[in-house]
Amino acid sequence: MRAHRYHGFIAETLEGAAVASGAVWLQPVQPRPGIMAGTESPYVMSMYTEPEFRGRGLASRLVESMIQWSRHRRYSRITLHASKQGHPVYERLGFADSNEMRYMLRPFPKGPPRARPARQH
Ligand SMILES: CC(C)(COP(=O)(O)OP(=O)(O)OC[C@H]1O[C@@H](n2cnc3c(N)ncnc32)[C@H](O)[C@@H]1OP(=O)(O)O)[C@@H](O)C(=O)NCCC(=O)NCCS
Repeated sequence: MRAHRYHGFIAETLEGAAVASGAVWLQPVQPRPGIMAGTESPYVMSMYTEPEFRGRGLASRLVESMIQWSRHRRYSRITLHASKQGHPVYERLGFADSNEMRYMLRPFPKGPPRARPARQH
């Protein structure tokens, strides 16, 4: 956030309660044809709508704002990894599946993230 690479988008009720949010992280990208060195690309992450506010178009409106934000800054594309729940939302807005592959070096840890133990001196 300090480096201005993480931009939050928040939907609030009229009373000011935050009920949906997401973020655009400006991800460093490696140089390749069409993309020069030292650039970055918007990556949508942390999309979440409070359960009782789902199905009202809030996530869709947040992503539309992110698209507008990114277009305005002249980025050429937006990337994200969709959950099963999020996939239809993004698809409807024009996101297409890409050809990314991955190799798991170890299984994803199950359950909530654990705090790192304090370093021993
Ligand atoms: C995925 C998630 C962010 C979607 O949030 P949301 O605010 O409910 O999303 P939307 O309301 O924009 O879209 C959801 C549904 O509402 C419908 N909808 C969209 N605009 C609407 C409107 N104006 N009125 C009524 N319904 C609407 C959509 O058709 C969509 O239905 P579908 O999924 O059956 O196609 C939310 O379910 C969530 O937080 N899930 C858990 C975390 C998660 O998976 N995050 C995504 C990580 S990629």
